[in-house]
Amino acid sequence: MADADAFRRYLADARARHLDELCAWLRIPSISTLPEHARDMAAAAAWAADQMRAVGLEHVAIMPTGGHPVVYGDWLHAPDRPTLLVYGHYDVQPADPLELWQSPPFSPEIRDGRLFARGASDDKGQIFMHLKAAEALRDLDGTPPINLKFIIEGEEECGSENLARYVAAEAGRLACDVAAVSDSPLLGPEVPSLCESLRGITTLELTLRTGVSDLHSGLYGGSAPNALHVLAELLASLHDDQGRVTVPGFYDAVRPLTPAERAAYAALPFDETGFRAEIGAPALTGEEGYTIVEQIWRRPTLELNGLWGGFQGTGTKTVIPCVAHAKISCRLVPDQDPEQIAELVAAHARRLCPPTATVEVGGQGGGHPALTPRDHPAMQAAARAMAIAYGREPVFAGMGGSIPVVPMLQRTLGAPVVLIGFGLNGEHFHAPNEFFTLSNFDRGLLTLCLFYEGLAGMSPGAR
Ligand code: BES
Ligand code: MN
Ligand code: MN
Repeated sequence: MADADAFRRYLADARARHLDELCAWLRIPSISTLPEHARDMAAAAAWAADQMRAVGLEHVAIMPTGGHPVVYGDWLHAPDRPTLLVYGHYDVQPADPLELWQSPPFSPEIRDGRLFARGASDDKGQIFMHLKAAEALRDLDGTPPINLKFIIEGEEECGSENLARYVAAEAGRLACDVAAVSDSPLLGPEVPSLCESLRGITTLELTLRTGVSDLHSGLYGGSAPNALHVLAELLASLHDDQGRVTVPGFYDAVRPLTPAERAAYAALPFDETGFRAEIGAPALTGEEGYTIVEQIWRRPTLELNGLWGGFQGTGTKTVIPCVAHAKISCRLVPDQDPEQIAELVAAHARRLCPPTATVEVGGQGGGHPALTPRDHPAMQAAARAMAIAYGREPVFAGMGGSIPVVPMLQRTLGAPVVLIGFGLNGEHFHAPNEFFTLSNFDRGLLTLCLFYEGLAGMSPGAR
């Protein structure tokens, strides 16, 4: 098998070609949530399939799901060796507001060692690295040393609604010993890390009505209930003055932090100053009694994502709105259940709704939280690879974001998921000027080559 230096030389030679190829993919505006980009979604899926074939994968197929297709490919010629399932997503978030981009979102541009484009880091750039690792192993070793299966989906940014059905229906085809996902940030620019916990998510929408029509606020004001007032009061009561969510039962399933976990978190090189600066608020908020790291990785939240009703135009309109809306999402931690939490929040909202109004609650699904034990042999193989590529032992971190497919793979396939992301906080995921730091593209690609080789030696008993 090739060693780290051989990979380094190979990857340096291939770098310009790699970036050209990635830029071609980044030029396709594959925004999954916007119907007008349906053709771009198909084009991005076709690009992924072509790329899979180019790196030597077989049985490449663009598989319909009822929504945007999943692209599948495999390489299964290492009998007696473990099988790794790699997951990524080719869809991206909408790019607006466009005027805030320094270069257009779908015209990739490299500035200062950063590749700017929507999807550069989340997630095309990162899943592309896995494809190139497979290719490097083929080119240098003749064949990859393990069995590989790839699924690249197109609905991650809008909730992976159809993926659960796909994974359940194709569980046989997707069977694996280990899964790997690169769709998350490192702990810091020079802090290699593996992720051992992800938060889950559940989302709700409240619609509050106080009448059948908006009313003149002079003729009726003083007597008529105001939907915005009712909603504002209801929402304001969802947290107490210690930053805790007041929904009864909300914390019942939350696994308490152990003293050992708290000590491990406290010892991490978490850049609190940088974190505060990124947020830019005069002061931070949060649940009392927990550090920032604990708050964002291991405590659940309830957040308002959108709030509307009444008059939004320029100037004044003296109206009493009869309807008001709120979008809410909760980040969840082990062992909270997305559906159960959505029900608790919905029931609480119904209870809080005063006699002056009616409330309707809609939900849009979600994802479970996930944990991967750091002592699993596959995590250890990833840690060894990362240590060589970064010249520094990685730390084990948590992550506040959600990747619904991760618990899905764990539950349906019974395989541990190694979360080995190479992005960085501050790379403007979902925001204008998203970029990927190319030094992590280089070190990450080397990490993946070494990781795949390392998995080859994983003992069958460990799987
Ligand atoms: N790559 C992110 C998830 C992520 C972000 C993990 C930051 C760790 C740190 C993924 O593409 C994403 O945006 N997920 C959504 C899921 C939601 C739409 C169900 C999220 O976390 O909001
Ligand atoms: Mn992502
Ligand atoms: Mn995302």
